[in-house]
Amino acid sequence: MIEAILWDDWHVVAELAQLQHHGVWRTRLLGVALTLQWDFGSGLIRACRELGDDPGGMPVEALEVRYGFVWICLGVPARPIVDFAEYHEPGRLSGTAGSVRVAVSGLRAVENFLDLSHLAFVHAGFLGEQPHTEIAAYAVETLADGTLLATGCRVYQPKPSPVDSSGFDVDYIYAVLRPYIVVLYKANPVEQSRKDMIALFVQPVTEESCVAHILTCYLPHEIHPPTVRRFQQFIFGQDRPILENQIPKRLPLDPRAEASVRADLSSASYRRWLTAAGVRFGALAPTA
Ligand SMILES: [Fe+2]
Repeated sequence: MIEAILWDDWHVVAELAQLQHHGVWRTRLLGVALTLQWDFGSGLIRACRELGDDPGGMPVEALEVRYGFVWICLGVPARPIVDFAEYHEPGRLSGTAGSVRVAVSGLRAVENFLDLSHLAFVHAGFLGEQPHTEIAAYAVETLADGTLLATGCRVYQPKPSPVDSSGFDVDYIYAVLRPYIVVLYKANPVEQSRKDMIALFVQPVTEESCVAHILTCYLPHEIHPPTVRRFQQFIFGQDRPILENQIPKRLPLDPRAEASVRADLSSASYRRWLTAAGVRFGALAPTA
């Protein structure tokens, strides 16, 4: 029995272009085996839950295409797919930047995305640089709609985006919209008062594996989609081995776990937020 907060919500299960390329796409969501089929004639997508050896399976009704990805809800959708005002802003260059399989809980992938302290080490020369390792104070709050928001984050980045620019102190805002969905707003190198948006839709495949689907929504300055994709895949490629080496593979929710190495405010807040929401899939529950 998987908690309703995940079961009755929408999750990305494929990049649309990948499904269209292959025609058939087999994957898992919350441990459930799924087959997606793209009908070249009608352009319709059919999704089935695989049931044991039954090749027919059980049709999945709740399916939508949004932001270049295929979204599925295994239960009864309790709320709509997340919406981004920036995505609809004219002139922005929005697009998928790929999907990366990671052999770790998707909650770990979200937490890593939130973690400012790893940037100067894991992404040295790009999203951070020594000796700029000090993380200035920032604020984390839970909004009335349930969003976990981190504001006032500021970090020196030598190459903050796919655009060729010099380094600067980049302003960040993080929003955790759903347990497995996190968005980053970061100052654009050309228009530093406006922000580029990068969303991470993490597909919980099993409790200890996930696919991180990336959506980018950049201001149009000198931005070319293939470069964006290469940049995001390169950055995520740096995170992947570190994520896959984390032990345990599930995210411990016990506040005492990993406290000494993970003193990061956003990480601790995210774990508390997950605990309060009753998220268990991909987590190690706190012990009494
Ligand atoms: Fe990273």
